Amino acid sequence: MQAFWNAKFQTKNLIYGEAPNNFIKENAELFLNLKTVMCLGEGEGRNAIFLADKGLEVEALDISDIALLKLRRRAKESYVFVKTRHTLLEYWEPDQLYDSVVCTYLHLPKENQKMLFEKSLEALAPHGYFVAELFSESQIHFESGGPKNIALLYDLNDILDIAKALPCKILKLSQEVIVLNEGDKHVGRASVVRIILQKLDHSPIVP
Ligand SMILES: C[S@@+](CC[C@H](N)C(=O)[O-])C[C@H]1O[C@@H](n2cnc3c(N)ncnc32)[C@H](O)[C@@H]1O
Repeated sequence: MQAFWNAKFQTKNLIYGEAPNNFIKENAELFLNLKTVMCLGEGEGRNAIFLADKGLEVEALDISDIALLKLRRRAKESYVFVKTRHTLLEYWEPDQLYDSVVCTYLHLPKENQKMLFEKSLEALAPHGYFVAELFSESQIHFESGGPKNIALLYDLNDILDIAKALPCKILKLSQEVIVLNEGDKHVGRASVVRIILQKLDHSPIVP
C-alpha cells in the first residue's frame, strides 16, 4: 500500500494541487471556530494546511511517508504546524477526541469502508463534524481520476446504512456530478459522494 502511494507522490509537483478541496473549503465555516481537526488519508496536505492557516490545530494521517514529508515541508514554508501520523487507517486507534474529522478521496476497499465512518465517529467529540468527499461507484464511467475498480468506490446507500447505525445526525449525504480541477490527477467531470455528519452527544437508543 505504502509503495503504491509513494510511487505516485514521488514527484516535485503536488499531485492533487495546492488549493484545498472545494467541498472542504465551502464547509469550513462549520469548524473554523472549533479547535481540533483530524484529516484522514490527507496525502500532501492541501486541506490540512488550509485549515492550519485558519488557526485550527490540525493532525494529518496517511500511509505514504513521502506524502507526509511533502506535507511537512509545505507546512513549514507556510509557517503553520500540522502534526503527522504515519499509519494505515486500519491500524489507527483514535486516542483523543477531535472537533472535526475531514476526509477527501480515501479509496478504501468495500470491506473497510464502514471502518472509516466508525473510527471517524469514535474520534469525534460530541457535536463534532465529519466532512468527506469520496468518489462514488459511478466514477467508474468518468475519466477524471480515481480508481478504476468499483471495489474501491463508494455506494450512497451503503453509506446511508452505515451512518444510520452510528450516533450521528446526517446533515448532508448526496451523490453529485461536479467538475474537478485538483492538480494533475483530478481533472474534469466526476461523480462524488458528499457527506456531512454531526456526532450526537449520546448514543442512539437501540429498541
Ligand atoms: C487519492 S489520495 C487523496 C489525498 C488527499 N486526501 C487529497 O484529497 O489531496 C489518497 C490518500 O490516501 C492515502 N491512503 C490510501 N489508503 C490508505 C489507508 N488505508 N490508510 C491511510 N492512508 C491511506 C494515500 O497514501 C493517499 O495519500
